[in-house]
Amino acid sequence: MMEILVITGFLAVAMIAIFAADGNVSAAASHTGWIDINADRQRLEVPCGESLFAALHENGIFLPSACGGRGLCGYCRCEVLEGAGPLTEAETKRLSEDEIAANVRLACQVMVTGDMKIRIPSELLSVGTFRGLVERIDDLTHDIKYLRFRLIAPERIEFVPGQYVQLEAPAYGNNPDPVFRAYSIASAPGDNRHVELIVRLVPGGICTTWVFEHLREGDEVKFAGPFGEFRLSDSDRPMYWVAGGSGMAPFWSLVRHMKDNGIERPTMYFFGAVSRRDMFFERKMAELEKLLPWFTYVPALSGETSPDWPGDWPGERGLITEVMERRVGDGPEAEAYLCGSPGMIDAACKVLRAKGVTDERIYYDKFA
Ligand SMILES: Cc1cc2nc3c(=O)[nH]c(=O)nc-3n(C[C@H](O)[C@H](O)[C@H](O)COP(=O)(O)OP(=O)(O)OC[C@H]3O[C@@H](n4cnc5c(N)ncnc54)[C@H](O)[C@@H]3O)c2cc1C
Ligand code: FES
Repeated sequence: MMEILVITGFLAVAMIAIFAADGNVSAAASHTGWIDINADRQRLEVPCGESLFAALHENGIFLPSACGGRGLCGYCRCEVLEGAGPLTEAETKRLSEDEIAANVRLACQVMVTGDMKIRIPSELLSVGTFRGLVERIDDLTHDIKYLRFRLIAPERIEFVPGQYVQLEAPAYGNNPDPVFRAYSIASAPGDNRHVELIVRLVPGGICTTWVFEHLREGDEVKFAGPFGEFRLSDSDRPMYWVAGGSGMAPFWSLVRHMKDNGIERPTMYFFGAVSRRDMFFERKMAELEKLLPWFTYVPALSGETSPDWPGDWPGERGLITEVMERRVGDGPEAEAYLCGSPGMIDAACKVLRAKGVTDERIYYDKFA
């Protein structure tokens, strides 16, 4: 009897707690705050209790992100002038002391709890959302796919080579919410009715698993963009390009943009892969090399290093950094553009610096 009373009492207390919590939740949900953006250029009324990143996103303002709001990439920086709560651990790890002093925050880490004043780069206010139809999906290698979308609404996109879009993977399987991931645009800006992407499968990754296992030709996709500062400088300097795997994407856009617009700058493009099955676009690159006297393509296989290897591989062998050691000339004049894994970029930057390429002439996008 005593046990029944204790259990009943416990249940009653639990029910009261649940109802009280429920009351709080609905009170919090009905509570809204105003976000003033760029000194009243735009004002949004948003529900309290969600992140600033999500609140902006729901109102069509897309801050850059490579981690889908998990506090890992540090891309969603903005200035929060009023209304920010305390810094989170993710922010103290990723923001410098100067940035913290200048009110810079990671929008995905800041909760909306009332009125706020924020400042974001004005070009982000014109980032658009797009719907596209998947016109083509090709296997480039065993773990890299080429995607081509025809734009439905709006029907055209303006971008510069090197910029990226945020592709939405809808809820599927065990992933209850849509996620956004960054993919460099592989098409040339001259074709503004299509967007091409080159996507490498990340085992266990949400968006790439969706691309590889669920996305089909004829499906509709959503993405936002364009984003990013990775782009060709205005100079005439000779260039080194360095990429591996899907890091090909921005350079595939760039080389065709240069060809279409008669931009001629001496360019040596290092592209690294492990073995022959990881290499793609060999014929396309050979054709471009023939057509463009200023363009040299240097593909290298790191897994096939033996000179006795009986393959018909005509290119370089060794890690891309070893090949760069051999082929990059000394000279502070050159610029370098790099895309791919953070490890590859860090190692390649070391070689470039040792060859005299200065930091302010090294541009990169780390795919992380
Ligand atoms: C500017 C930019 C441009 C890019 N361009 C390209 C491009 O052109 N092509 C391309 O292929 N990629 C590109 N990327 C990378 C791309 O944005 C994605 O990061 C990548 O495709 C992986 O996404 P995903 O959703 O499949 O993996 P995610 O789900 O994000 O997972 C990535 C990895 O983290 C692990 N992981 C996931 N969640 C957790 C967790 N909670 N704890 C621990 N580990 C976890 C996963 O198992 C996986 O190994 C670019 C990135 C940036 C920043
Ligand atoms: S979106 Fe990656 S840190 Fe905020």
